[in-house]
Amino acid sequence: MTTLSRRDALSWLGGAVLGGVVAGVGGVVSTAREGFAAKTAASPALWTPHKLDAAECAPLAHAGYWYEGLGCCYGVFESIIGSMGRKHGAPYNQFPFAMMEVGKSGISDWGTVCGALLGAASAFALFWGRKERDPMVTELFRWYEKTAFPMYTPAPGAPGLAGPLPTHVSGSVLCHLSVSTWSLATGIDANSKQRSERCSRITADVAVKAIEIMNAKIDGAFAPGLKSTAEAGCVSCHGKGKASPILKGRMDCTPCHGGSVHVQDKFHKHP
Ligand code: HEC
Ligand code: HEC
Repeated sequence: MTTLSRRDALSWLGGAVLGGVVAGVGGVVSTAREGFAAKTAASPALWTPHKLDAAECAPLAHAGYWYEGLGCCYGVFESIIGSMGRKHGAPYNQFPFAMMEVGKSGISDWGTVCGALLGAASAFALFWGRKERDPMVTELFRWYEKTAFPMYTPAPGAPGLAGPLPTHVSGSVLCHLSVSTWSLATGIDANSKQRSERCSRITADVAVKAIEIMNAKIDGAFAPGLKSTAEAGCVSCHGKGKASPILKGRMDCTPCHGGSVHVQDKFHKHP
């Protein structure tokens, strides 16, 4: 490593993105930040946000979910940034939108964070840096934890399935918990088209809430207010500088540590 020139090291590692790694490990690069695509991790993004009409974007989010199977993350993101592009052109319409398919089913089918939420948080991140964005994400995620989904009713002729669907509050931002607790509560197969329709409606629901938050932010009227059981109780001891400083994350603790029969040991004497 130490015999590599800075140029050799950067090209060997595939360029600027890995420059910081070179500096950290070998000490070869003195100006590690040089060549990074962003100023700093926390710096505000450069695009200017525009207010949107949530009622106009909701059907686009729902239809976007179904469009070429691109799913929830794409649906939310495209309904926001794509709508800015349709009204204001560049740079919004220049985004490689299809990449947002990655969020589908909790990121490439892993059931981690709900892709609709990833789509919304990613849209926020195009306009607001960490300090501004984190409270917006928290407001959206807390709302998601507490909401009985789905709420949106598609208009006649929309893609997917027509008719009412049962609702359920999952208490979690995770795709796995959101889908599986709904399926258990309603008796509807997680692999059915009805479940897909549920998620396409949640795509519209999340887009509407995200736009509400963005519009308030643009107006200077965004006032986050939602709290969780976890924040009130558990994090008084589980957190930075507290009795138990081993906790990472802000998810509500209830679904996984709430003593539910559903999180007992299923590896022994089961079923
Ligand atoms: C009064 C302080 C306090 C409160 C309040 C508290 N904890 Fe803890 N908890 C601890 C300490 C101390 C440990 C021991 C782990 C350590 O040393 O980091 C612990 C351990 C745990 C563990 C590890 C397994 C175990 O049982 O030891 C889990 C899970 C946990 N807490 C969840 C929660 C949840 C969920 C809440 C809220 C409902 C909560 N805790 C509230 C202090 C607290
Ligand atoms: C999506 C489920 C989920 C949520 C939500 C969640 N946890 Fe956990 N947590 C786990 C799992 C799984 C482990 C690892 C358990 C093990 O080690 O067997 C864990 C581990 C821990 C531990 C370390 C001790 C241990 O048993 O490994 C603590 C402390 C803890 N959680 C506290 C919390 C608190 C406080 C919250 C809310 C702010 C929270 N967790 C939210 C699932 C969750």
